[in-house]
Amino acid sequence: MDDMTEAKHAAAREALSHVSPGMLLGIGSGSTVHAFIEELAKDPRGVMCIAASRKSADACTKAGIPVEELGPSMLDLVVDGADAIDQGGQVLKGLGGALVREKILAEAARKWILIVDETKLVDPLRGTVPVEVLPYGMQRTKCRIEEAVHAVGTLREAGGVRYMTDNGNHIIDVKLPRIDDAEKLAALLAAIPGVVGTGVFANLHPHVIVATATGETREWDCP
Ligand code: A5P
Repeated sequence: MDDMTEAKHAAAREALSHVSPGMLLGIGSGSTVHAFIEELAKDPRGVMCIAASRKSADACTKAGIPVEELGPSMLDLVVDGADAIDQGGQVLKGLGGALVREKILAEAARKWILIVDETKLVDPLRGTVPVEVLPYGMQRTKCRIEEAVHAVGTLREAGGVRYMTDNGNHIIDVKLPRIDDAEKLAALLAAIPGVVGTGVFANLHPHVIVATATGETREWDCP
């Protein structure tokens, strides 16, 4: 296992200490979450999982961890990864394409844990903001997004074709060198017709677990 993979597993093991028997547990997506699924599979402790992506659901099922659909109940705990987190706990997510379902889980969580390696800590918040858009009128929606953020958007592709989310939509990625007000940015983008959701996770108060390349972990609550 290389240092980065070991760091992801160290953060994942730390997150496991927050998992109690029989919990309704939300599972995000990405490589760090896959490390968490592997660690959880060693001792699933009777949890029931709700997954944010087909890939995560398949990984849970393959590991023998039961998965069900999200119902009306709150989730006891959600464990997810992130692409960027600032000191105030504002977060960018969605490079893996599961942003809309991840946000549904995050907002249903009694406790939202983000497991990351230290490369994800940034100040100020910056990076790629993925915006999931309906296929209908997508070029017009892209123009509106670009006008709103004063930056060029890129239609995400995978394998030479338009990337399609689990929801049947597409993603426009916008690179922003500095985000001073994550809540304002999220609201601005959400107001554009055709936008289904964004990777700006503002004011969701994560519990952050960070692992360094040497395998040490630090964790804190973002108030
Ligand atoms: C998926 O849509 C993302 O939000 C992931 O949580 C994020 O990209 C982190 O992925 P890694 O753990 O692979 O870095």
